[in-house]
Amino acid sequence: MCGIAGYVGKKDGLVVVMNCLKRLEYRGYDSAGVLFFSAKGGSASNGQNDQAELKKSPGKLTNLEKKVKNSCATPLLASIGHTRWATHGTPNETNAHPHADCHQKIFLVHNGIIENYRELKEQLEKRGHKFKSQTDTETVVHLLEDNYDKGATFEKTLDLTLKKIVGAYAFGIINQDEPQKIYFARLGSPLVLGIGTKEYFLASDQAALAGMAKKIIYLKEGQRGWISPTGFKVWPNKPIIERLDLNTEVAQKSGLEHFMLKEIFEQPETIKNALRGRLSTNGVKLGGLESVSKKLSKIKNLEIIACGTSYNAGLIGKLLFEEISDIPTSVSLASEHRYQQIAHRPDTGYIFISQSGETADTLAALKKIKTQGYLTLGLVNVVGSAIARETQAGIYNHAGPEISVASTKAFTSQLTILALMALCLGTKNKNKKELARELTLIPNKVKLILKQNDQFKALAKKYLQFQNFMFIGRKYNYPTALEGTLKLKEISYVHAEGIAAGELKHGSLALIDPHFPIFTLTNKNSVYEKMLSNMEEVKARGGKIISIATAGDRKIASVANDVIYVPKTLEPFEPLLNSIALQLFAYHFGVLRGHDVDKPRNLAKSVTVE
Ligand code: AGP
Repeated sequence: MCGIAGYVGKKDGLVVVMNCLKRLEYRGYDSAGVLFFSAKGGSASNGQNDQAELKKSPGKLTNLEKKVKNSCATPLLASIGHTRWATHGTPNETNAHPHADCHQKIFLVHNGIIENYRELKEQLEKRGHKFKSQTDTETVVHLLEDNYDKGATFEKTLDLTLKKIVGAYAFGIINQDEPQKIYFARLGSPLVLGIGTKEYFLASDQAALAGMAKKIIYLKEGQRGWISPTGFKVWPNKPIIERLDLNTEVAQKSGLEHFMLKEIFEQPETIKNALRGRLSTNGVKLGGLESVSKKLSKIKNLEIIACGTSYNAGLIGKLLFEEISDIPTSVSLASEHRYQQIAHRPDTGYIFISQSGETADTLAALKKIKTQGYLTLGLVNVVGSAIARETQAGIYNHAGPEISVASTKAFTSQLTILALMALCLGTKNKNKKELARELTLIPNKVKLILKQNDQFKALAKKYLQFQNFMFIGRKYNYPTALEGTLKLKEISYVHAEGIAAGELKHGSLALIDPHFPIFTLTNKNSVYEKMLSNMEEVKARGGKIISIATAGDRKIASVANDVIYVPKTLEPFEPLLNSIALQLFAYHFGVLRGHDVDKPRNLAKSVTVE
């Protein structure tokens, strides 16, 4: 949560930083701010001709854009910026980053949480420091000032300060004594360095640097350093410089109205990418798991740990592993698992699913499991992210950056990889060939669903006045129903609940009346007849039914009020198609209700705090 950007080089740093912030806005969007040096002057002098200008605004980045419209930054001097998702203190101008020390000499942007900020603040206040904001972050800038006063170099000041901090952080810091430098540090929150030609960048996510930096350093836990127009320094260990191959396309909406729609429409391609090079006539080959293949062959149980949409993918993964690989599998919410007393589970392998690879709860659960010596595997989209690094082995989604807060293409790509893993581990499964063949047909079947986009829009319009929805399904379609509710809730702000269809009569059926429409996932599969009976029960109570059904099913239209048809596929892969239908409904419903679906209220893309 929160996006950090920094630039030093020949260009106008304000323009570069604002550009990066635009690409990072998905990380937090309740306030934003920048610090740059300008010849025109502003609030405080840096001792030369240029003066530091601190501009902050509550609300989305467009507010800050208006504020800095007529400003420009002096080339070769440092600029930093921040887009915030509030943890401590309301999202107002004072609490927005960058924060400054008492003398407006040191400026700092932060992503993470300073856990011991209360103690530190108390000590610093006693020493005369004056705080302006309610944030944990401001403590760090005063602590830097306090340590710097002791006459140390700023490198040493930074080291000394970091030693006193407990918590998670990625920092970008400007000290007016060295206006050409941006100092940085990271622990527990992501931060990358971009390298161009005589220019250097700092960002929370590589996607912010697409088309700008040629090389990248994924900073490791505990690394810190500085960038200046003439070079950079990272300590305590040597950084690894890698090529950055992302083009600007990935960070743009490609002419579509929202990233969410773009990402929904990318799914034929992202599912193909998840399969590419991994599925052939010789079977499934998962390069990322080769280093642990011996350990994996001894595994008798699996446990999947994740949050949100990734957790829903895990629930489907469980069914895949049990049906295809015959491996008993359990699924846990990371936020629960990390605090639970877990019984010893010999021969268990743990799979951590995370689009961002940064989710604080998932990472904490992973660290806990690691200390107990279990095999840990990652299913992660963001290359080089914390969960990818902390797990012993893993598989990347290769879905490309997912910018919209609502996860869509990452989810179906997670399902694809879980299916591949299940096939890979299901050495004795007799239907492997048929399953593998069907998996390769999914991308084209997805295209057929996307072609019905207008129908989803019309359906959303028809049901727009309703405030409550229920989603029901059985087997694979139960977790798919849960994912359908999550999508609708997060971007439409209406109430939705997902129920295992067989559970309806155990309580939730009481909710059903003409004002409480119900989505049923009624594909022609092993539980089709059971689902039809559930639909009849709903209909008898005056409930309005919207069904996702298999193309060619004529029976269903006589029970449901509205039907959306998806192509026929094998039961384990139905979630890959049904979830896309539900994504499209949620998307149009949210847009028609006038919401910014890419940036739903109160949320942020990467949940890097508990
Ligand atoms: C999904 O639409 C959400 N925005 C959210 O539930 C997300 O899946 C969850 O926060 C987990 O994120 P991760 O996959 O990056 O770990």
